[in-house]
Amino acid sequence: MCPNMSVVGMQWGDEGKGKIIDLCTEEFDVIVRYQGGSNAGHTVVVGEKKFVLHLVPSGILHERKLCVVGNGVAFDPPLFIEEMEGLRREGVEIKDNLKVSDRAHVVFPYHKVLDQLGDGRGGDPKIGTTGRGIGPCYTDKMARCGFRVAELLDGEHFREKLKWVLEAKNLEIRTRYEQDPLSYDEIADTFSGYAETIRPFVADTVTLLDQEMKRGARILFEGAQGSLLDVDFGTYPFISSSNASACGVSVGAGVPPRAVGKVLGIMKAYTTRVGEGPFPTELTGDHGEELRQKGGEFGATTGRPRRCGWLDAVAVRHAATINGAANVALTKLDVLSGQKNVNICTAYRCNGETLTHFPANTAVLDHVEPVYETFSGWDEDICGARKFSDLPSEAGAYVRAIEDAVELDVEIISVGSERDEIIRV
Ligand code: GDP
Ligand code: IMO
Ligand code: MG
Repeated sequence: MCPNMSVVGMQWGDEGKGKIIDLCTEEFDVIVRYQGGSNAGHTVVVGEKKFVLHLVPSGILHERKLCVVGNGVAFDPPLFIEEMEGLRREGVEIKDNLKVSDRAHVVFPYHKVLDQLGDGRGGDPKIGTTGRGIGPCYTDKMARCGFRVAELLDGEHFREKLKWVLEAKNLEIRTRYEQDPLSYDEIADTFSGYAETIRPFVADTVTLLDQEMKRGARILFEGAQGSLLDVDFGTYPFISSSNASACGVSVGAGVPPRAVGKVLGIMKAYTTRVGEGPFPTELTGDHGEELRQKGGEFGATTGRPRRCGWLDAVAVRHAATINGAANVALTKLDVLSGQKNVNICTAYRCNGETLTHFPANTAVLDHVEPVYETFSGWDEDICGARKFSDLPSEAGAYVRAIEDAVELDVEIISVGSERDEIIRV
């Protein structure tokens, strides 16, 4: 049996993947990010310290683990360097335990400018992106005018290619958005400098991972974003531009499909989303604000308030189907303490019909009414619970109801942001 595991978000991101990946890392030898970029913000709390990882795999906080930024990642050199320096300042050792794929695509300043200028302008829908250049970087990859990290390291080729690529980007920046063009010299010089800093970390990670698997290493694939932000299966166009679900693991890590291994889905005990797009179970007003405050629901990357709502089991079932999730880790159950009742959306009502499957046309979601099953809440603080039987009976019943509604077993329950605030079911 394949010894690997893929950890993926089952909602719209920020499910607590960072915490669970950190928890699981002990059992693995290699941790690989396979998609997304610095739009991700994965929080790991270790004692007094809080780490927020954007590009570096969350496994880095453990010694003697090999961490790999895969070919499917939108790689931002200055942010990567900054993140590495920040981790080192906190005493995290980074030497040959961190590798970056020579096939990852590079994020350039024009990607960020176009991301920020293009969001909601000129008839384009407003997505509320993180502004980190992710969509434009992946667009260029598909349009065959992107740069692999290997090309950035090839000085002469890089400078030549940048000329015509930047010319086209500047044309768009000037004519479509009437903004000043970016300087060729500045980008060419700064990125040539970054190339030298990252050179020792760059590797043929396809061969590296193949060799690791042949020697029997266990690999943990770290998903960023969530399945409902997946470009193929999420709430298009209100998505991020990569395959965040487990379907993206093989192509984004550069491993054969059989290497994906067990899929562990991460889901919050309620739902959040940052940015625009439909959210059938959203709680607006005071109730939403209460969850936001209790859950500390502010973006780890942008600081934006996250929209909050009840658990949407229709959406999670869709994510479970795509991912082939074996089990789930349920996070932030503690945040629901103090709710009189808790709701689970088990279906949608739309034009007199009941929908139990997630629609492909996202516009439909703007008009659906959630069908809720309501359960009694609990008042107790549950952060100290370490066994299922420590939970108040109402909290336990809620977990069992979630298992029924999403048709998956809960393997881990997280009851706080700290490493040990966990129940293994
Ligand atoms: P990720 O992007 O999926 O890694 O999630 P984020 O780090 O963006 O957001 C999750 C937030 O919830 C972080 O601040 C975590 O420290 C915190 N967190 C994770 N698990 C729990 C939990 O079980 N309870 C509480 N209260 N906070 C948690
Ligand atoms: P983690 O890995 C939550 C959202 C943005 C926006 C949409 C597109 O921390 O769970 P993008 O900048 O990717 O083009 O923005 O996707 N988004 C996330 N939401 N968690 C994330 O990552 C996200 N990464 C992107 O808010 O709605
Ligand atoms: Mg996050």
